[in-house]
Amino acid sequence: MADHAPVEARADDIDVIRRSLTLPNGVTIKNRLVKAAMAEGIGLGGGPPREGHLKLYEEWAQGGWGMIISGNAQIDPKQLASPHDLTLPDHPSTLKRYTKLASSVHRTPDSPLLLMQISHPGLQSSSTINLSRWPWESAIAPCSDRPTVSDGPIGWLWSRAVWPVQSRQITPVDEWLGIVKKFVDGAVLAEKAGWDGVQIHSAHGYLLAEYLSPLANPNPRPLPGVPDHLSVRLHLLYLILEGVRENTSKGFIKAVKINCSDFVQGGIDEKQATEIVKTLVSWSMLDIIEISGGTYSSPAFASPESLKSPSARQSLFAHFTSSLLPSIPSPPNGPAILLTGGLHDRRLIASSLRERACDLVGIGRPACLHPDLPNKTILDEGTPDEQATLGGYPIPGSGLMRVLLGGGGNSPTRGIKLVGAGISTMWHEWQLCRIGRGVEPDPDMHWLRGLIIEEIWYEVIIGLWISMWRFWTRQVFE
Ligand SMILES: Cc1cc2nc3c(=O)[nH]c(=O)nc-3n(C[C@H](O)[C@H](O)[C@H](O)COP(=O)(O)O)c2cc1C
Repeated sequence: MADHAPVEARADDIDVIRRSLTLPNGVTIKNRLVKAAMAEGIGLGGGPPREGHLKLYEEWAQGGWGMIISGNAQIDPKQLASPHDLTLPDHPSTLKRYTKLASSVHRTPDSPLLLMQISHPGLQSSSTINLSRWPWESAIAPCSDRPTVSDGPIGWLWSRAVWPVQSRQITPVDEWLGIVKKFVDGAVLAEKAGWDGVQIHSAHGYLLAEYLSPLANPNPRPLPGVPDHLSVRLHLLYLILEGVRENTSKGFIKAVKINCSDFVQGGIDEKQATEIVKTLVSWSMLDIIEISGGTYSSPAFASPESLKSPSARQSLFAHFTSSLLPSIPSPPNGPAILLTGGLHDRRLIASSLRERACDLVGIGRPACLHPDLPNKTILDEGTPDEQATLGGYPIPGSGLMRVLLGGGGNSPTRGIKLVGAGISTMWHEWQLCRIGRGVEPDPDMHWLRGLIIEEIWYEVIIGLWISMWRFWTRQVFE
């Protein structure tokens, strides 16, 4: 994780961020601020968007973002990353609900672009947390394994509780091609539903990232229909992107989210990631490449430390993009590079754009507390630079929960990193649930209150009734 030193405040910072950008497919983004993909945590049991999603996306749509990327929509309802994930077609009514969500964003000519993040969590899908399959049913992956969350006995217990059985290794080529088809079908549905594009999730140790990784895919099998010269680990991503390109229009935005490093021994490192990104650029199929990093074993992308101190301004992965970008053509001649992680300060955002550490800036966690962050703060000329700092907030009760759950208290170097990341992620999802219910986010919400009120009461107990009602009405009326 490298420091990215802030530069002096400059009067044109807001102008730099406000400047529009034209992508290789000719579509223009009105400014450089992207609401990063965040699982919304709304409802239980997967399925298409609910009323809460519509309300939440309406709020983001009015907030001044140039682009909004949805939370991960999973291609397989049994293989979820969280029990609340959106899922893609298993029923004709799915299209209707995704169309409604797109309409709730595209209300005015000035509305942001909307991308659907399409995903498969691979071996990181937990049967005991997500309850979308029996505990003894496996996740699927290029290898048979389970994530290692730490070396000690507590880590051993955690990983057995979350992943009671190892993943099933996918070997038949037909099964891989079936996965390709589901990603492509998801993109086709997104376009039919009026979305502006898709982002293929190939980061954070999910299935497509596993296929790229020497650690998770030690003996990759070639897939048919791919140019001979292409490295075998790129075959799956190539077939998906090629399928999306062939089956959607040119104006439909194609994006990918990729790791600059897995931050685990034997996984993708920065040198390999640089080669992967350069190859992706050479295919000329992509409009946006988002750079992130980490897996559940080492969740750099969700590092709670990057939220803490407004004085320690950091962009998590800028050192990678800064050295990569000079070798990539700028948009519209090449894909826009979207950098996400720790970019929580107006001056840092402006300097990252000005020095071309990126073309677009993704913001995640602060957008859960302030859906109107661009209009209210970053692009607001009345807000001085010193106040245009978006991180720097504590999560009440998170230190105690980290101690109790094995996350090592407030020390970033001790305990299970996934616990700290999970505590922070859940708290932010609960803020999204509040917005979806039509109430203000609550920065003072104690973690335990969030667990009881937002998670157990609203999302599990009430969410379960709504899921059952939806299932029943679907069977009877649709
Ligand atoms: C509540 C929450 C849910 C997230 N869900 C996703 C997701 O569905 N897909 C994804 O690629 N990243 C997801 N992320 C990671 C964010 O996209 C982003 O990479 C991360 O929060 C770092 O950006 P930030 O420092 O601005 O928060 C999630 C993060 C949070 C806080």
